[in-house]
Amino acid sequence: MSDKKRVSRRQFLNYTLTGVGGFMAAGMMAPMVRFAIDPVLKSQEGGDMHSVASIDEITNEPQRVEWTIEQVDAWYESEVQKTAWVYKDEKGDVVALSPICTHLGCTVDWGSQEEYPNQFYCPCHGGRYTKDGVNVKGTPPTAPLPYYESKVKDGMLYLGDTISRKGE
Ligand code: FES
Repeated sequence: MSDKKRVSRRQFLNYTLTGVGGFMAAGMMAPMVRFAIDPVLKSQEGGDMHSVASIDEITNEPQRVEWTIEQVDAWYESEVQKTAWVYKDEKGDVVALSPICTHLGCTVDWGSQEEYPNQFYCPCHGGRYTKDGVNVKGTPPTAPLPYYESKVKDGMLYLGDTISRKGE
């Protein structure tokens, strides 16, 4: 073997330490890079929108739709049940409302009271909302039901996060 091809003990140690150091640095940087570009990846995936119903099944009458999402809190993963009231307005646009009463968080029903057949009703303290989710004056809620962020794609309704609305 010629002297040119020989690797000294010092060179071998330098190469090895540089390789191991580079490998460890890449391992530490990968999660940071993933965290930094996560919003970009999420927007390409369509964000956190979930397919909840076929658009053809939605009528002018509010109907309750349910779906499940995976929720990750640190190392704990769980399934969370979500609910919305959905209907088509006079223009044919889909309206998706949160069922959570803005008074103290009970769940509202549609048309469950004979006296108020075309309103959302909260059984906890008698809160009422009109069909578009606006709170009826003189009842406990002081703000409308939040909307769900929504989109229609390939004949399916997708819902995302809720968007709060201000009371008057
Ligand atoms: S929680 Fe709905 S009216 Fe009070």
